[in-house]
Amino acid sequence: MALQLSYRLLGRQLSAGQATRVGRRRLSLLRERALVAGQWTVAADGATFDVINPATDDVIASVPDLGEADAARAVAAAAEAQRSWGQTAPRRRSQLLQAYFRLLEEHGEQLAALLTAEQGKPLAEARAEVAYGAGYIEWFAGEARRIHGEVVDGAAPHKETLMIRQPAGVAALITPWNFPIAMLLRKLGAALACGCAAVAKPAEDTPLSALALAALAEQAGLPPGVLSVLTASRARTPEVGAALCRDPRVAVLSFTGSTAVGKLLYAQCASTVKKLSLELGGNSPFIVFDSADLEKAVAGCMASKFRNSGQTCISTNRILVQAGVYDRFVAALGSVMASQLTAGDGAADGVNLGPLVNNAQLEKVSGLVSESVRQGARQVWPRPGSAAPEGRFYPPTLLTEVTPDMACFREEVFGPVAACARFETEEEALAIANSSDMGLAGYIFTENIAQAWRVSRALECGMVGVNEGLISQPEAAFGGVKLSGLGREGGHYSVEDYTEVKYICFGTK
Ligand code: SIN
Repeated sequence: MALQLSYRLLGRQLSAGQATRVGRRRLSLLRERALVAGQWTVAADGATFDVINPATDDVIASVPDLGEADAARAVAAAAEAQRSWGQTAPRRRSQLLQAYFRLLEEHGEQLAALLTAEQGKPLAEARAEVAYGAGYIEWFAGEARRIHGEVVDGAAPHKETLMIRQPAGVAALITPWNFPIAMLLRKLGAALACGCAAVAKPAEDTPLSALALAALAEQAGLPPGVLSVLTASRARTPEVGAALCRDPRVAVLSFTGSTAVGKLLYAQCASTVKKLSLELGGNSPFIVFDSADLEKAVAGCMASKFRNSGQTCISTNRILVQAGVYDRFVAALGSVMASQLTAGDGAADGVNLGPLVNNAQLEKVSGLVSESVRQGARQVWPRPGSAAPEGRFYPPTLLTEVTPDMACFREEVFGPVAACARFETEEEALAIANSSDMGLAGYIFTENIAQAWRVSRALECGMVGVNEGLISQPEAAFGGVKLSGLGREGGHYSVEDYTEVKYICFGTK
């Protein structure tokens, strides 16, 4: 099959300086100070680090490189603010979240432009992320008023048995670079609704989105100290992370990111026995059965595989296709990839595949593809020997004849690489799917309803898309099993992470 992929580096049509100046003029939410203890501040030693546009290599801004002492200051202010925030009437917290939601909507374009500039995702995806993230604030504005305890009949008639929910306390929110807006809003909405003050630590690649969100939270009327945002470089991030984990005044740690870092934070939180919410890596199987509607399966695969250039924890990683439809599915996927994907600067018109976020990511993806090809995978696109990717733009790649032992199946690729393997039976597909030590999401495409139920139940993961490639929504419980993490975010499930249940036995004799 001939693939004609339009792989245009549209970003190169703008000069680097031009892109930044255009951005700066529009971005009144761009902040170059961190928010610590209610003050927009610089680092005590004046240290800063640059935030780079991954598409153009331009420096967008420089932000404070904070350390342990700043983290302690932020936590102290949060602990102080917690006293009154935790006592604030749920209705008031709800109103404040509603005001915040309206501001997020009002500034959606600006937030999306900032997100594209620092993260690289295409503008349409950035807009979708802002709407998705704001949806969590809207949801938790409602949830703030639905946080209930319960009264049960106890063992003896003279003992009234009550369980009430109280705010857990200060929450540390450590967020990733792939969805810097949605992941912070998902955690912050829940924390604030439950009456917890928060100290956020955004990823070093994408601090500007978090600072903009903090500026809007302040504008919405969030009291000083209830939210701090600590910016720190790659070198200082471990120090800030450890300070948050070890501080006894922090009651909850919520982290989204890699399993390796999640394990480290888990260990560091042991000494203070915190409540933990960990949304970690994935290695999602995408299973296409003979009974599937292939058009739906290809559309689902495109949505799940190429969202954010594959840099998504719930991205499809292992495409398993039943032998009866394998050739047809792979051909259809290849031709849709060829006709629909245009790589380039996310700010440019028509681009729907942005760059990878940094050089480490680029090296990781290229390494996994080369290793898989060396192990026997067939690279259908780009043709072997094609020009090397320019900048951080990794070309959409189709690998076929993959087997479960290959690098691109064993590891989460986190890039625009569609790796396809063939299977014969449902049992075989399930055995391959469940052979991973990750268990975040899984996708199945089948028109056989009994098979849909059977396989959904048997998959070892926290979320399943049945004939659907985009499963994220504020109303749902997001999270994984095995090494993919602990806890669920979204819906009413987040309330577990940010509240403690207190049992009160009320003697009436
Ligand atoms: C993630 O990749 O961690 C989150 C993606 C989502 O919420 O859809």
